[in-house]
Parts: sequence; C-alpha cells; structure tokens
Amino acid sequence: MRTLTVALGERSYPIHVGAGLLQRSGELLSLLPSPRVVVVTNPTVAKHHLETLRNALSAKAIRHDVITVADGEDHKDWQTLYEVHTHLLELGAERSTTLIALGGGVIGDLAGFAAATYQRGVPLVQVPTTLLAQVDSSVGGKTAVNHPLGKNLIGAFYQPRVVISDTATLDTLPEREYVAGIAEVIKCGAVRDLALFEWLEANMERLVAREPDAVTHAVIESCRIKAEIVIADERESGERAHLNFGHTFAHAVEAGTGYGTWLHGEAVAAGMVLASRLSVLAAGLPASAAERIAALVRRARLSADSPPWAPTTWLEWMARDKKVNCGDLRFVLLEALGRATIRGGIATEQLAAVLRL
Ligand SMILES: NC(=O)c1ccc[n+]([C@@H]2O[C@H](COP(=O)([O-])OP(=O)(O)OC[C@H]3O[C@@H](n4cnc5c(N)ncnc54)[C@H](O)[C@@H]3O)[C@@H](O)[C@H]2O)c1
Ligand SMILES: [Zn+2]
Repeated sequence: MRTLTVALGERSYPIHVGAGLLQRSGELLSLLPSPRVVVVTNPTVAKHHLETLRNALSAKAIRHDVITVADGEDHKDWQTLYEVHTHLLELGAERSTTLIALGGGVIGDLAGFAAATYQRGVPLVQVPTTLLAQVDSSVGGKTAVNHPLGKNLIGAFYQPRVVISDTATLDTLPEREYVAGIAEVIKCGAVRDLALFEWLEANMERLVAREPDAVTHAVIESCRIKAEIVIADERESGERAHLNFGHTFAHAVEAGTGYGTWLHGEAVAAGMVLASRLSVLAAGLPASAAERIAALVRRARLSADSPPWAPTTWLEWMARDKKVNCGDLRFVLLEALGRATIRGGIATEQLAAVLRL
C-alpha cells in the first residue's frame, strides 16, 4: 500500500492506494468519529465489491447500512440525492455517521454531495472503483449533482476524510471504461509533470494491461499532481483550471453528440489532441510535443480524432461550457510538456486551422 496526504490544514486527508485494500478497509477506517457508516453504491458495483467491503467492516465491528441507487449518470440528480437523504433519515443516521461512496465518479459526486448536505455535513469516505474516480474525481473535494440545464451545476466543495483506492477493484471494470480513465492520467502528465508523461511513454502497454504496479504508479502520481494543484487553489480561482486541459473541446464533444455517446475520458483524449495542436499555434508548444500527446492517446487505445464538425458548430457547443468568461473562450494550453497556461483571445482562424488538421 502507498499513502499520500492531501495537506489542507485541519481538513487534510490520506489517500491509500494499492491492490486488495477493500479487504483492509475496516482498519483503514479505525479513526472515524463513530463506529457507524452508511455505504452508498449502485447494483453494478455492489455485485462485484460490496460483500468484500461489508466483511471488512464487520471484522472491525463497524455497524453499517447500505443505500443502493440506480446506476448511471442519469441518476446523478436531485431526485436521487433526495432519495439518499430520505434513506439516511429513515435509518436514523446521525451527525457522526460516516458516508462511504463505493463506486465510480457518479457515486462519488452524488454521495459526496449527500454527505456535504445531510445534517449540514457528515464525514465522507471515498472508495473509488473506476480508474477515472481513482485518478481524478475522488480527489479534490468537488461534489455535485446534475441539473436538466447543465452538468455538475448543483454541488459543494467537500473534502473526504479518507480515500481508499483499491486498484484490484479495477479488474472488473469494462475495457472501455478503464481506458477512458487513462486520458486523465495523460492529462496530469501533460499539464504538470514531464516525468509522469515520460513514464507513460515507457509503460503505456503495461498500464493498458492493468499490471498492478503500473496501475498503482499511475493512480499515485495522478493523485499527487491533483493534490498539489488543489492545495494551491482549492476553489479553482486559478491554477486548478489547468486540470481542464482538453476539456473545453471535450465538453463540446460530450454535449454535441449527446451525453453518454462518448465517455468523458474518450472526449478528453480527443480534446487534448486538439488543445495541443492549438498550443502549437498559440502558446509555442513544439509540434513534436503535440505529436507525442496524440501518439500516447492512440497507444491507450483511445481515439485521437474528434467529430468532423465545422468550426461554427464547435464554437456553438464550446460557448455553452460554463467555464467561458465574458463571452471570450479561454483555453488551457501547453507551453511545453508539463507546463500549462491559460489563454484567451484565440483568433477564430487559429481555431479553424486546428480543426482542419
Ligand atoms: N468531482 C470531480 O472532481 C470529478 C472529476 C471528474 C469526473 N467527475 C464525474 O465523474 C462521473 C464519471 O465517473 P466514472 O467515469 O467513474 O463513471 P461511473 O461512475 O458512471 O462509472 C462507470 C460505470 O462503471 C461501473 N463501475 C464502477 N466501478 C466498477 C467496477 N469496479 N467494476 C465494474 N463496473 C464498475 C459503474 O456502475 C458505471 O456503470 C461524471 O459524473 C463526472 O461528472 C467528477
Ligand atoms: Zn475530466
């Protein structure tokens, strides 16, 4: 097991990463304020991993109940949040009761927001079971549900007490979901850490094959990078936006093709390829570096190609992104591999040139 700490003063918390940690979760939770937890999960994840968690909790005499919500992004909504609150009230959950989010990013965001709001906030533990959740969504404290008018618009910053990333839980993840998570690992290297990027170039096939030490390295390094950025800018007033590299294009792809057609990570992969090409034109990134990003995306078995839309269609979908400032699209671009910057005032011709490539 490897552990790193997200240093946020009183709200600091450990992230434990390793194969088989679910079996040890009882001991990893021994510092909780009361020996009572409620697990929030869905039937897909429960089928594979709930029994292991329950056995580990029972072994340490931790009283636990389970709330199961329907699987899928469609259920990361107000209605399901309300159902979770209702179950918590019916179970008599108290202010000291800990919520455990067992699942992917959808469960993490939903259960996280439930924990932030139930009785003005109860302790939260993230047990992420997708690669995307282990490398990205379980770290940093963003919780939310979707609104019919937009994704993730209703939520709170709420840090967990502990994150337990059992890399062995990824063995049951469908291939498409798994490789989509690799896009966020590539992103971490591209915006912040040349060493991680070069490690991916040397080890991509091992990571795709889910070799345990490769998975652990990718998870730990992504969490370390995200934690560093979050510590510097918890509420995303500056540097945290670097984590949105590729995401302005990606959100356009996800929305423009209908949510769920492209997985988030798939859209991020193609979006990073476009953003790196734009970086060559507008931020001085060497063309060879942009090619290295596209090559890495392909080796992760992700598509480097985006939908063949006209520039006006792209602009239309990108302008709906909530991160647009004053009508001026701002892009996270790369000055070099491992060094990101934010640029506005991109000329339409530059964007059109990138989209034609
Ligand atoms: N809070 C943040 O900072 C942040 C960051 C990125 C993404 N997100 C959010 O994360 C969500 C996407 O998360 P995701 O990609 O993990 O999707 P997800 O939670 O929908 O999981 C994908 C699918 O895999 C299933 N699954 C999960 N673990 C499994 C396992 N071990 N074995 C088999 N199946 C398993 C799930 O039930 C689901 O069907 C989005 O809602 C997004 O907005 C949040
Ligand atoms: Zn993302």
